[in-house]
Amino acid sequence: MPLEIVRNDITKMKVDAIVNAANESLLGGGGVDGAIHRAAGLGLLAECRTLGGCKTGKAKITGGYNLPAKHVIHTVGPIYNDGKHGEKALLESCYRESLALAKENNCETVAFPLISSGVYGYPKDQALKVAIDVISNFLLENEMTVYIVIFDKAAYKISEKLFSDIAEYIDDNYVDEHTDYSRERIRMNALPSMAPRTRRKKSDDDFLEICDCKAMLAEDDLDAKLKQIDESFSQMLLRKIDEKGMTDAECYKKANIDRKLFSKIRSDIHYKPSKPTALAFAISLELSLAETEDMLRKAGFALSHSNKFDIIIEYFISKGNYNIFEINEALFAFDQSLLGA
Ligand code: APR
Repeated sequence: MPLEIVRNDITKMKVDAIVNAANESLLGGGGVDGAIHRAAGLGLLAECRTLGGCKTGKAKITGGYNLPAKHVIHTVGPIYNDGKHGEKALLESCYRESLALAKENNCETVAFPLISSGVYGYPKDQALKVAIDVISNFLLENEMTVYIVIFDKAAYKISEKLFSDIAEYIDDNYVDEHTDYSRERIRMNALPSMAPRTRRKKSDDDFLEICDCKAMLAEDDLDAKLKQIDESFSQMLLRKIDEKGMTDAECYKKANIDRKLFSKIRSDIHYKPSKPTALAFAISLELSLAETEDMLRKAGFALSHSNKFDIIIEYFISKGNYNIFEINEALFAFDQSLLGA
């Protein structure tokens, strides 16, 4: 997964480079700066002394010393004032400069803390957004695996409005897994797209057939759909990429999928992806809910209302928000696995 949000202590990350949220002296401090210096040992401080400090928004690289990471990239985030003193541009520059330095030093894996979101007071949800925007843009043009490391959940905030919106949507739609299908069937039958002929008593297997009808009824060319029933997941994926006029790279990058996995799927028409991978492609292709269910079914899965992960994905599709990184922010906030691979 090119961009992943993880809960961890950055000093434990075995990556090519970890990024330090330093101050302009580069001589250590509290927070993550203190943790990195403690874990790396005195050799790090000795090398930092030779660097002559670092300007806010810039970045400098040293060895990793006793850390599992090979390098430390020290960057100095802005002290947050009121958001009207160029703080955002400086914070964006921290991520851009650090990524450029990582690339220059052939780093394939890089881990970032949420720069400026601690002592420097940058609002956490905005700090996260800046990080995700700059990193995801970089990843459109570069092959690298980047981790955003969240040390403590309190340090992790998505916007209150988004969080409460999703929580409400989960409450409205969550069906306890012990609820028998009849209630779920009634809900499905109540859906406007249900044609009269599907309103008869159903067995559980027919329940899935309803979804099939939904997928087909949602499309205006039934014959074309009948032809596509037999296509595999990977055949449907490649067909959709063509229909959407996307390149392969645009599709897998927007899906937060790495190139190697995509070429595996492209070369094997019977490839069976995991559910997060299948959904990541549905999001990348900006499929409707019905088309998403159709694509999932070809991978052997179905969306379920007894699964918060599925409901959150459905929430974003219903809102027409196909930004996989924003979706992953929300999934992480609700302790769910992330989209992509
Ligand atoms: N691993 C990952 N993240 C961590 C860790 C850790 N071990 N320790 C703290 N963090 C997180 C914090 O939860 C916060 O979200 O790092 C983020 C950045 O917080 P700070 O370390 O306070 O950095 P910042 O806000 O950029 O302030 C920098 O603080 O430590 C001093 O010398 C540093 O003066 C500089 C200032």
